[in-house]
Amino acid sequence: MTKRGLRLAPSLLSADFAALGAAVREAEVAGADAFHLDVMDGHFVPNITFGPSLVAAVRRHTRLPLDVHLMIEDPERYFEAFARAGGSTLVFHVEARADPRRLLELGRALGVTVGAAIRPETPVDRVWPWLDRLDQVMVMGVNPGFSGQKFLPGTLPKLHAVRERLSEHGLSTDLSIDGGITTETALESARAGATFFVCGNSVYGQGTVAENLAALRAAVQRGAQDAVR
Ligand code: DX5
Ligand code: ZN
Repeated sequence: MTKRGLRLAPSLLSADFAALGAAVREAEVAGADAFHLDVMDGHFVPNITFGPSLVAAVRRHTRLPLDVHLMIEDPERYFEAFARAGGSTLVFHVEARADPRRLLELGRALGVTVGAAIRPETPVDRVWPWLDRLDQVMVMGVNPGFSGQKFLPGTLPKLHAVRERLSEHGLSTDLSIDGGITTETALESARAGATFFVCGNSVYGQGTVAENLAALRAAVQRGAQDAVR
């Protein structure tokens, strides 16, 4: 487990875009640790969402960290705009057209933390060269583009592999899981070493946000206990 513990980040992609302020408040009151914002450009993924102005609007409603997931071809071009909009962690994809070294330098200069996400078909060793400089490694549990998809088999071994590597190197980097999280897959992901859980449909889908977050919290705590046994 990292020094920062286990954290739940509701993904606003599953919230009502016409009532985002209320969705943020509801989850914050219910104990969310951060918010996850999915930026999609219609090229890197087959969907289009929003840009920096929406991140800035969410920033006006909360002081919690904003985890900005950049599913875009050219993250370098937009890093500064998302940092200025109030993003806390900027997560780029290792498959995007960008030089991770440059993004890490840029992130440092802009005062944000930087994460790297990997698609389901990308081998985890793509992040090894940057591991000691990244603040977050985000393993995707689904093909990026849409919320509400099913968690893919093959995700848990990747989480295990990253956790093992982080432990070997004594790194407290966040290990994040994004996509397909339910109470069951949250538990399994925590067992596999995840510490940061992006939850879209499992928070904003059925039922109440407070009950959903409580159930997810219980699941990840159980999973993390199993992991240290
Ligand atoms: C998928 C996004 C996810 C999405 C997760 O491309 O990166 O963050 O919002 O939604 P769920 O939890 O419903 O799979
Ligand atoms: Zn995401």
